[in-house]
Amino acid sequence: MRMRNKYRKPTTLLGYAGSRCSVSVVVWSLVGCLLLLHLYSLVHQKDGEGGVLQMRMNHHPLFRELEEVEEENIQIPPPRGKRSPRAAKRRPKRTTTLIDEFLDESSQLRHIFFPDQKTAVDPMKDAGNDSFCYFPGRIWLDTDGNPIQAHGGGILYDERSSTYYWYGEYKDGPTYHAHKKGAARVDIIGVGCYSSKDLWTWKNEGIVLAAEEEDETHDLHKSNVLERPKVIYNEETHKYVMWMHIDDTNYTKASVGVAVSDSPTGPFNYLYSKRPHGFDSRDMAIFKDDDGVAYLIYSSEDNSELHIGPLTQDYLDVTRVMRRILVGEHREAPALFKYQGTYYMITSGCTGWAPNEALAHAAESILGPWETMGNPCIGGNKVFRLTTFFAQSTFVLPLSGLSGSFIFMADRWNPADLRDSRYVWLPLTVGGAADQPLEYNFGFPLWSRVSIYWHKRWRLPYRWSEKK
Ligand code: DGJ
Repeated sequence: MRMRNKYRKPTTLLGYAGSRCSVSVVVWSLVGCLLLLHLYSLVHQKDGEGGVLQMRMNHHPLFRELEEVEEENIQIPPPRGKRSPRAAKRRPKRTTTLIDEFLDESSQLRHIFFPDQKTAVDPMKDAGNDSFCYFPGRIWLDTDGNPIQAHGGGILYDERSSTYYWYGEYKDGPTYHAHKKGAARVDIIGVGCYSSKDLWTWKNEGIVLAAEEEDETHDLHKSNVLERPKVIYNEETHKYVMWMHIDDTNYTKASVGVAVSDSPTGPFNYLYSKRPHGFDSRDMAIFKDDDGVAYLIYSSEDNSELHIGPLTQDYLDVTRVMRRILVGEHREAPALFKYQGTYYMITSGCTGWAPNEALAHAAESILGPWETMGNPCIGGNKVFRLTTFFAQSTFVLPLSGLSGSFIFMADRWNPADLRDSRYVWLPLTVGGAADQPLEYNFGFPLWSRVSIYWHKRWRLPYRWSEKK
């Protein structure tokens, strides 16, 4: 969409002095306007530290207080134990970073990233002032008092029952390494489902797609991998359709799996797995557009690019249409959403269970071209922003009552004990100018900024679902 001045008229058209003068007035006014627009876009850009100067636009006023920039100041403790002078000489002291602390299970800062049971969010207890508050990283209990098991998940709003259903990996088993160099894993247990009316109090609806215990050749055999399940509803067939990443222990099968149910709470009937469009497929997501067409998006070509294509009308398969996007960008964990006709997506880098920098992308057409806009994270501190608040994207939930406002859902993986991975839910808004719009239209950025705001504690505006 880059605008080239290919239709520039020859200057000989400026016949005489009078018209030359008026043309130059018009030209200079235009230049002035463009400069003003450009200045406007600059004022709305990120400051050098990754915070944001100003970008409140578009979305619902009730969401504005969630756009306060909240800083985190975490002091890294001095290294424990004395080093012998010889050791110090051999290996000069390396500065410990916050990421080292996060990855170190015995870190003194562990409680900051993985707060203990005492601070758990328990919607069944009188939480007083903390009622309906999200505390990213804290243990989150369901209505039975057990930690929610819905990792790498996504949410379906079921119009028929006016209920939210949260589906995710049920990982409540021991973490181990199948091979010395293999990634930490938990055997497949199944897909957990939780229901809620308020997005805070979640009732366990059980395992809606269970692992296969006996048949070793089955995709869902416990020794395999089932990740990132997502469910959408098909208005024509009246079926709930689940798509998921299916793999073997070594992540070489690289396929998608499909399951179907008559009810949002299952049981889901597992249909098959395949390599979509004949390509390897790892992290994936499903997006249902306003016109009812649903799309599969997946990391492919060894995670070097993403592929996107529409599903068949019954949502049970892919069609032959597929586009390669973000080629060579090495992104995974896609979470897609739409606002005012534009498609947006958050992705992560590819570093196993370790956190890395999120990027936001935008497109006019869902099949692309997609453009990368930059890091959407605001607040915390620099390391928080460079690690997606020590988490990885999984889903972006639109808040129907609050136009332009979303919940960003991410997983704070705990590779030492995957069942104890935490949820990082934060407010996400679309508005203001993007930081790094690659395509400029006379210097005026085409895309709106996607912003995810760090908050230690936050809640949705009072009676948010009734607002329009
Ligand atoms: C990163 C992916 O996003 C996760 O879903 C999972 O596959 C891990 N890699 C495994 O290391």
